[in-house]
Amino acid sequence: MSVRFYDENAEAFFAGTVNADMSGARSRFLANVALKGHILDAGCGSGRDALAFTNSGFRVTAFDASAEMVRLAADHTHLPILHMTFEEVAWDGEFDGVWASASLLHVPRANLARAIAALAKALRPGGTFYVSMKQGDEERSVEGRLFTDVSEEEMSQLLQAAGLAIVELWISADVRPGRGDEHWVNGIAQKRA
Ligand SMILES: C[S@@+](CC[C@H](N)C(=O)[O-])C[C@H]1O[C@@H](n2cnc3c(N)ncnc32)[C@H](O)[C@@H]1O
Repeated sequence: MSVRFYDENAEAFFAGTVNADMSGARSRFLANVALKGHILDAGCGSGRDALAFTNSGFRVTAFDASAEMVRLAADHTHLPILHMTFEEVAWDGEFDGVWASASLLHVPRANLARAIAALAKALRPGGTFYVSMKQGDEERSVEGRLFTDVSEEEMSQLLQAAGLAIVELWISADVRPGRGDEHWVNGIAQKRA
């Protein structure tokens, strides 16, 4: 259901997020990724972070489930953005880093462990995973999008169940203007060697 929302509201969503300042989280993630390593941007939206990683010297593969977001992200980044879903992820040991910013939050809670396990499998041993989801305990349907909210504890359990060791977990306020009262759970975790 959420993908249709992005297809129908792609231009507005792109405009509202392409300049969001995610530099703090990106720096914390990149501090744990091998220089010039290969990063997977999973549910890349506007392509903002895929472009930033490319400009920092990393090799990037990115995908999104919304055909319209894929088109806008490809225009913005000049990268070949894959049109696919979390459910189709089948890489094995390919990436030094997997970045899932505000994207897994649209996966129903019942499917979350499986989606995170597939992304963890896509990492090389020692590779680093970043995830952010909204803080809470509900599964909500809001104007055509499903949101699965998590607590720090649930995030920690999900990452560890996927064979990842927690590096750090933190809560952040939304970086978009006027949205500072929304809170996000951020996690960085490493695949065991
Ligand atoms: C809130 S946006 C976040 C986009 C971007 N990562 C960012 O941080 O700005 C969520 C993105 O996840 C994508 N998405 C939703 N469900 C997905 C799925 N099952 N597989 C892959 N991408 C999905 C949407 O199309 C949308 O671009």
